Amino acid sequence: MTRFDPTAPLETRAAQALTFAQTRVRALITTYPDYFPLYTEEGKWQHGREAWTNWCEGFLGGMMWIFARRTGDQSWRDRAEYYSRLIEDRQHDTDVHDLGFVFWSTWKRWFDASGDAAIEARVVQAGQTMGLRFNEEGKYLRSFVAPDSCFIDIMMNVGIIFHAAKKTGDGDLLRKASEHCLTTRRYLVRGDGSTAHEGIFNVQSGEFLRQSTHQGWRDDSSWARGQTWALYGFGTAYRLSGDERFLDTAQRCADFYVARTPSHGVPPNDWEEPSPRLPYESSAAAIAASGFFQLAALIPDPERSARYEAYARTILDTLLTPEFLAIDTPEWEGILKHGIYHQRKDLGVDESVMWGEYFFVEALDKLLGAPPLS
Ligand code: GLY
Repeated sequence: MTRFDPTAPLETRAAQALTFAQTRVRALITTYPDYFPLYTEEGKWQHGREAWTNWCEGFLGGMMWIFARRTGDQSWRDRAEYYSRLIEDRQHDTDVHDLGFVFWSTWKRWFDASGDAAIEARVVQAGQTMGLRFNEEGKYLRSFVAPDSCFIDIMMNVGIIFHAAKKTGDGDLLRKASEHCLTTRRYLVRGDGSTAHEGIFNVQSGEFLRQSTHQGWRDDSSWARGQTWALYGFGTAYRLSGDERFLDTAQRCADFYVARTPSHGVPPNDWEEPSPRLPYESSAAAIAASGFFQLAALIPDPERSARYEAYARTILDTLLTPEFLAIDTPEWEGILKHGIYHQRKDLGVDESVMWGEYFFVEALDKLLGAPPLS
């Protein structure tokens, strides 16, 4: 491979990074076949430390679908189908709130590539399974931790419910998806556009009780990745529903991200944490880049749209340097360095994380011409 030149034009570096990403994914599935890692430990994918929850099984196959479409290489297509089939049964999984992550990245990409209704049926089923999490009193989709808990992360998974509702003509499912977004907007998004990680409700009455966190610094602080789930997820909710309130919320979340992040575009784990333990949470930046590309394509105002697109490019300009891209770090098994999974539990801190890899690849793909609305 040609030596990585951090001063080369952005598109040149992005193309080189995508080639490098293919090398890393190929090595991962060769070294650890049929294995779905979440995060590295000192740069290595296999380590036996706890997962906390199982939400990342679509991201490996999702990268393969992107590689297959970009390169036309049949071997990537075969691997993408194989890794998608390995998670097919998850369409019925009622234990997690993450079936959007799992199926949008894999089976939905498979459907987009094939137009095969039998493939789409798995995506629809996953959306219907997600709908079972709805609490009628509180009007939210419950998180995996407890019935009284709603996570900001679920905004990235509610899209698959909108999709299933539209495909099946199920008005009640559509209502649940929409009400979840409105509840999240009301109780988890604050007046300044920042977000809480979690809302706690009275399960019987539906009364909202308080904001809380698992992965952020404090209950009333601003966990960066949660913010990016919101800015991307509310954009998707607008795209699939046409409800302007969701676009407005996505923009407010995006504006908070820009206002509070250093000019290089990569936030710490939590903006409120005094003297953050580490300066970077790169996976939040990768998600934000992809979410900003989507927002830029959704927004009618050309000036704002151009600003969001420029910001996505700024983030990638930073991530496409050897500080973040592991291209000059051969012993490191991941693609993107400096991600954080769960700082409080000390899981995956300053490591490569599987969703960071996926959204980085997705953002690079968009930068190089893939449709920004995926
Ligand atoms: N549990 C999803 C996340 O760590 O962002």
